[in-house]
Amino acid sequence: MLTLAIETSCDETSVAVLEDGRKILSNIIASQIDLHKKFGGVVPEVASRKHIEQIDTVLQQALDEANVKFKDIDIVATTYGPGLVGALLVGLSSAKALAYSLEKPLVGVNHIEGHICANYIENTHLEPPFLCLVVSGGHTHLVHVKDYTKYELLGRTRDDAAGEAFDKIARAMGLGYPGGPIIDRLSEKGSSDAIDFPRAYLEPDSLDFSFSGLKSAVLNYLNSNKQKNKEIKVEDVAASFQKAVVDVLVDKTIKASKLKNLSTIALAGGVASNSGLRKQMQDRCLSEGLKLVCPSKILCTDNAAMIGCAGYYNYLNGKISDISLNGVANLKIGQ
Ligand code: KG4
Ligand code: ZN
Repeated sequence: MLTLAIETSCDETSVAVLEDGRKILSNIIASQIDLHKKFGGVVPEVASRKHIEQIDTVLQQALDEANVKFKDIDIVATTYGPGLVGALLVGLSSAKALAYSLEKPLVGVNHIEGHICANYIENTHLEPPFLCLVVSGGHTHLVHVKDYTKYELLGRTRDDAAGEAFDKIARAMGLGYPGGPIIDRLSEKGSSDAIDFPRAYLEPDSLDFSFSGLKSAVLNYLNSNKQKNKEIKVEDVAASFQKAVVDVLVDKTIKASKLKNLSTIALAGGVASNSGLRKQMQDRCLSEGLKLVCPSKILCTDNAAMIGCAGYYNYLNGKISDISLNGVANLKIGQ
């Protein structure tokens, strides 16, 4: 069973071909990061235009690398939300055109569910149920993965997403975009105990997150030191900030796994590449007797292979979309 998958929800134009949902035959990712860098973030209209320019080439590359032809494809999967609506429509329209002309089923995929399914690709024995921490530029979700297409949202950010906080802090320090990988690298050279930034745990039984207070605390620290002409050690700010984010992410994830009696934890989304998060989560899982799985870095970032995997399981569970499927910018998980 061959799945052709398309992902254009943000700033990556990606097309993949998968065999039986979990084996990647090709996964072409054309990143637009360089294009958006000079604006310090993704410009939605610029992203949509670039997707239009790139989609046909990326599609052909994905078929060529997988060594398959259009006629070999069995399912056409595409992200239909959440994301930038203009960007989503490029991939969605291409997928609809392909499904219609090839007379194959169209399968709409929730981008967040795609991030979670990235875990199935390399961890070939992974099966639900498990707990997944989804941390990306747009989302911070704790999800109980009950089955391949059944999800329960246990907690989410009430303000900024984890990746958004990384990007905003990096921007305030003039470090460039995207901020997450830069702060991650700087953290290795700094001390995480140097500055005592706040950790927001919210109500005692809450599995929600909040990063806006931490963001303000870092911005205040930067401004007050600048005003006093005090030297700012960016490595220490990066390491202390990153530790404050990671502490809360790890504590709440472990708490949720105990609450739901889940012995396997998975990470997903761009921030799942963070070395501090991976290490601290691994250490805690070891000491708590839990199993941790995590996609390789290329599958943490936006890519079509994860959409193909989620689309395959949607298809097996009868979740096939109509040709009238539309982009849904604020699509919720489990819908
Ligand atoms: O999943 P993703 O590629 O796109 C979204 O769906 O948002 O995530 C991108 C986010 C950005 O905010 C980026 O700064 C963050 O993931 N990120 C990281 C790291 N690599 C990417 N954050 C922290 N540490 C990293 N190593
Ligand atoms: Zn994403």
